[in-house]
Amino acid sequence: MQLTSFSTRAVRKIGRITKSIFGSGPQPAAAPAPILLPAATRAFKNRSAQVAELPDLIYVEMAMACNFGCKMCPVPESQKMMDGRVPSIMKPDTFALILDSIRNKPRHVWLTQLGEPMLNKHLTNYIRAAKSDGHHVGFTTNGSLMTEAKAREMLDAGLDHVVFSFDGATKETFERIRIGGSFEKVVANIRRFAAINIEMRPEGQRCTVQVDMLISDLTENEVDAFHEMWRDIAITQAHPIDNWAGQLDLPEEFGERRMPRQDGERYPCNLMWNTAYVSSGGEAILCCHDYKLKSKLPNVHQKSLQDIWRDGVQTERARHVAGDFSSAACANCQAWRSLQSPEQIIGQ
Ligand SMILES: C[S@@+](CC[C@H](N)C(=O)[O-])C[C@H]1O[C@@H](n2cnc3c(N)ncnc32)[C@H](O)[C@@H]1O
Ligand code: SF4
Repeated sequence: MQLTSFSTRAVRKIGRITKSIFGSGPQPAAAPAPILLPAATRAFKNRSAQVAELPDLIYVEMAMACNFGCKMCPVPESQKMMDGRVPSIMKPDTFALILDSIRNKPRHVWLTQLGEPMLNKHLTNYIRAAKSDGHHVGFTTNGSLMTEAKAREMLDAGLDHVVFSFDGATKETFERIRIGGSFEKVVANIRRFAAINIEMRPEGQRCTVQVDMLISDLTENEVDAFHEMWRDIAITQAHPIDNWAGQLDLPEEFGERRMPRQDGERYPCNLMWNTAYVSSGGEAILCCHDYKLKSKLPNVHQKSLQDIWRDGVQTERARHVAGDFSSAACANCQAWRSLQSPEQIIGQ
């Protein structure tokens, strides 16, 4: 009873307040808030090649070398599969130049492109340096070199995000794909990293721990078990296997590439708007697929990354906008078929 009369009073009061704010006529439906796009994405949507500022996401390759021999990856046979490109490591003076170019605002700095980043003995120093400039820092690793000491060192340096690549959910599948890797050792390394993360960092300041797998004929039956296997300590993602944008013949046992494909007329590639890439030797590249360095952009020792972005990368963006995809890096690339077209971008 008491409750009913209170409710009636409350409803009348709310009615009075509503009338005083909106008036008593029929109420128009509230307009949804517009989705505001970052400048680079807006430029892509509008098919404009002009993007003055380096983007928010910067990929820096730490090592074009690996201690594994995964069958779906070009790195193990680098010289044969990369037109003679030789193994190399990102050196401190090169990394310092990259940091100089992005010091004007915090960005996401991903310390991986190809190869195994933990082979670079400077990796922890690079994490620390990028963190002290205010960036969000992460990398992708095969997990084989994540000892207890390395985990402590990197967490102390401020690492924000680590992705461990882990194919399948059984020893047999993992070791069939990730040649040279030990299932038990990598599982133990990832689990220990996650435990040290909880021990060293208070809740809310922890490193994001992610485990990723590739979906292929060899792993498709283990996808559910994979997610289940890591559910207690990590976020997980399963990605379709690809043939590196058409550059690599996947061994038959993997089956066909699994990336979604769009047909129709070719459109510009949004990677050149949203992300900047630097190879381990310091050469800028147009996108993550160009492991053969066909982009032929300057080295950051010759020109600042900011200037390369406004010059060489901008020239290629303009070509794409004009419908010209004939440059060496882009001519035969199929990656655009799995990427969003300008018309598919929602927002303003
Ligand atoms: C090239 S690796 C470099 C980092 C590190 N060595 C590792 O294995 O995580 C980066 C990511 O590319 C993925 N990758 C390798 N070959 C691939 C392919 N053919 N299709 C899709 N992703 C692939 C790996 O599984 C890994 O998650
Ligand atoms: S561990 Fe990474 S870089 Fe090395 S061969 Fe495997 S996928 Fe390639």
